[in-house]
Amino acid sequence: MDNWKIFHRSETTSTNLDARSGVHGDVFTADFQSAGRGRLQHKWISPAGANLLMSVVLGVGELPIETAALLPLVAGLAVLRAVEPFVRGKSVRIKWPNDVYVDGKKVCGILCERQGDNVIVGIGVNVREQDFSEDIRARATFLGGTATVEAVRDAVLDRLFAYYHTLVQSGFDPIHREIAAVDFLKGREVSVRQTDDDSSPISGLCGGIAADGSLDVSGTKIYAGEAHVESLTR
Ligand code: BTN
Repeated sequence: MDNWKIFHRSETTSTNLDARSGVHGDVFTADFQSAGRGRLQHKWISPAGANLLMSVVLGVGELPIETAALLPLVAGLAVLRAVEPFVRGKSVRIKWPNDVYVDGKKVCGILCERQGDNVIVGIGVNVREQDFSEDIRARATFLGGTATVEAVRDAVLDRLFAYYHTLVQSGFDPIHREIAAVDFLKGREVSVRQTDDDSSPISGLCGGIAADGSLDVSGTKIYAGEAHVESLTR
């Protein structure tokens, strides 16, 4: 925790936008975002004070571009490890590319954006919110129990610091081994719509997250996209 410098606002547009002025190690949090941003141009809506809304600035100028591209998965694993103690007995998984699921429902979304020599890692964790809007009720969940926004923030930052340094010093292999053990999509029939690609979605049996961060669907490697589960085959 001492490695980070935290800037908190009660209200902002988006912590990912605030983080554009930051340097490596800066952390931007807010109780409420008026224009919270999700992946694929979605909005991220969260009631004031209920959830963790946080953007972390990580320097990647020294890293090869393909290593920096793995940060979304690294951040996903950091959040997964951070929230596990709050949901003991439940199944906690990473859904490629970087959602965290608890008992089959999304508890965290991550939006990573490159900004010069930094990556802004935007993390939204549902901590106390339980009245989800109708459209996401069936797919979303929250930590509840003893979890507080501050405790989850500190746990995520501790884990993110450790995994970032593992990535820089030892590469992705040790992180990939951990991710492979908590891969939500592996062994399921999936359909993946590729980002920036107008072709039809690719469907098939998911072989899991590969050592280069791509998703294997029936032998095809997919580097960016949105996956939907068709059915459970194991
Ligand atoms: C997703 O679509 O799943 C990613 C959601 C990312 C939301 C977080 S909340 C903190 C940070 N600020 C934003 O505007 N978005 C990210």
